[in-house]
Amino acid sequence: MSFIGSYKAKQFNLSGLKGISDQTLEMHFKLYEGYVKESNKLSEKISEFIKDGNVDQDEMPAYSELSRRLGFEFNGMVLHEYYFENLMSGGGIGDSNRNSQFARAAESSFGSYEIWKADFVGIGKMRGVGWAICYENPANGRLSNHWITLHETGNVAGFNPILVMDVWEHAFLLDYKPAERPKYIEAFFSNINWPAVESRLRRDLGAQTAGA
Ligand SMILES: [Fe+2]
Repeated sequence: MSFIGSYKAKQFNLSGLKGISDQTLEMHFKLYEGYVKESNKLSEKISEFIKDGNVDQDEMPAYSELSRRLGFEFNGMVLHEYYFENLMSGGGIGDSNRNSQFARAAESSFGSYEIWKADFVGIGKMRGVGWAICYENPANGRLSNHWITLHETGNVAGFNPILVMDVWEHAFLLDYKPAERPKYIEAFFSNINWPAVESRLRRDLGAQTAGA
């Protein structure tokens, strides 16, 4: 029994990226599968604790640790799915087309696509282990970029992830040195699947209303 349901690892048809090797991707897919497995396992264990409708005082330390770890593993699973799905097999076109819905939403929120990008890349270069994520506020369509520590600290409740970049070192260590994260970020941008990114924007909001 598992209250979050049972999750299966997705298969990603992703290879031939620019500057991110297939070897890195294979290793990364395996790591992702680990998050899926752990999410299922943790949820089952927590379900065991609560099935009698009670969390005893002596169960509390183990129960607390499992519940905290669920936030880590579950977000690790979901964010990797967003990440792989916003990359394009064979490589992308680089920066978003200036007339695209994404570029217009970025411009409405930040003044220009370039300023949006400077913020997103800047967050990606922050020291520490985590993610750079561009979210859409579903209330007004505005985009904002956020740093996520590990997988679970910094996600904005209710906001919609639009572009998700893994900046854990495992995402690039086979291809770049730890200090070469900027090169990896450049490679990431050259592989973005913009149609996949745009499909995440809420159509009913549209870039025109993003200034609201
Ligand atoms: Fe990762």
